[in-house]
Amino acid sequence: MLGNFSFHNPTKLYFGENSLEFLNEELPKYGKTVQLIYGGGSVKKNGLYDEIIDILKRNGKTVVEDSGVMPNPTVEKLREGVRIARENNVDFLLAVGGGSCCDYAKAVSVSVNCGEDPWEKYFIRFDEPDCEILPVGCVLTMAGTGSEMNGGSVITNHEQKLKIGHVFGDEVMPKFSILNPKYTMSLPKRQMVAGIYDIFNHICEQYFSGDDDNTSDYIAEALMKSVIRSSLVAVENPEDYEARSNIMWSATWALNTLISRGKSTDWMVHMLGQAAGAYTDATHGMTLSAVSLPYYRYIMPYGIKKFVRFAKEVWCVNPEGKSEEQIAAEGLEAMKDWMQKIGVALSLSQLGATEDMIEGIADATIILDGGYKVLSRDEVVEILKQSL
Ligand code: NZQ
Ligand code: ZN
Repeated sequence: MLGNFSFHNPTKLYFGENSLEFLNEELPKYGKTVQLIYGGGSVKKNGLYDEIIDILKRNGKTVVEDSGVMPNPTVEKLREGVRIARENNVDFLLAVGGGSCCDYAKAVSVSVNCGEDPWEKYFIRFDEPDCEILPVGCVLTMAGTGSEMNGGSVITNHEQKLKIGHVFGDEVMPKFSILNPKYTMSLPKRQMVAGIYDIFNHICEQYFSGDDDNTSDYIAEALMKSVIRSSLVAVENPEDYEARSNIMWSATWALNTLISRGKSTDWMVHMLGQAAGAYTDATHGMTLSAVSLPYYRYIMPYGIKKFVRFAKEVWCVNPEGKSEEQIAAEGLEAMKDWMQKIGVALSLSQLGATEDMIEGIADATIILDGGYKVLSRDEVVEILKQSL
């Protein structure tokens, strides 16, 4: 049964090959000084930076540069972004990049006018913002996180060995996001497949909980099928616009709150992956792929009906003459085959994790209760060992 819920998503999307033109429609709505947020330079190599600077200038904006946002943005970088915004009286934050730039922009947006340390307030205490929030816009260059249409912001504190996400409300979501699948074509293959697995796992996190006849789960299955099909095409031919556009659109819908409506959600793969990420600084999607199979094999008996449905509906496993356990296990094997085909990491050791990190990663893993089994710390350790 669908529970009670509200659904509202304020982010306006512009999708397609000509979508950057709409920046001209959006920019006049915001103040004069724009903090241009980008990463390590991919936007300069592929020409997007020049195009955006040109549009900003034509719209009479003063541009303040904020570059060097790293994958898994750090608390130190957040503090630098806040300083840049304060020193220049910035009116608007424009993130050009992947989830890291978009997440970072949101973290800056709630911190510029905040009188406290943002790490403590938002990422340790999970307080909600009570100050003026700067508006954020996003030009997305990597499909994966869904950050372009949600309130999520994940920040890493290497000193404390913590990587923590805060899901902010509507007022922090980007005012608009520009999604041009062509921009994703300059992504290295490793980043493309990490993003693809991130999308797939966002859907799994919201699917593997409850076993009602729930419209959200049917939508989730359709999205999973689209991601699987398009990923296999994109791995063969990264220039395939249809596949890249399906992947980009699926990423947005996988985590813009739609498919979690009316049901509980799991998110333990993300908790395990994020904790591993705090220790290894590995690519987000790869940390998820590394822990997924051991986790799902472990919880399968507690949610067997859903794993059977997953096997039949998503992976087309033929159930004839098989027990529920066999069908469910075949579904996970089919998922493993697909993961191998697209080339994501299947172990934490591939990402630089070592046995002596296991206890620390377990300590950094936040245990949630929305899935089929609330894990004990010992079970977390066991799953991490199996993921090594
Ligand atoms: O920094 P540049 O030079 O731009 O290079 C980036 C970066 O090295 C590169 N890249 C991006 N677009 C490119 C490109 N290279 C060539 N051509 C392009 N078009 O890709 C690398 C990774 O980028 P990043 O933004 O870090 O990737 P992603 O989009 O996966 O974002 C990861 C961050 O988002 C968080 C993750 O934890 C991680 O910190 N997440 C945010 C979520 C949310 N807001 O809801 C949910 C997710 O589960 C996730 O936790
Ligand atoms: Zn994710």
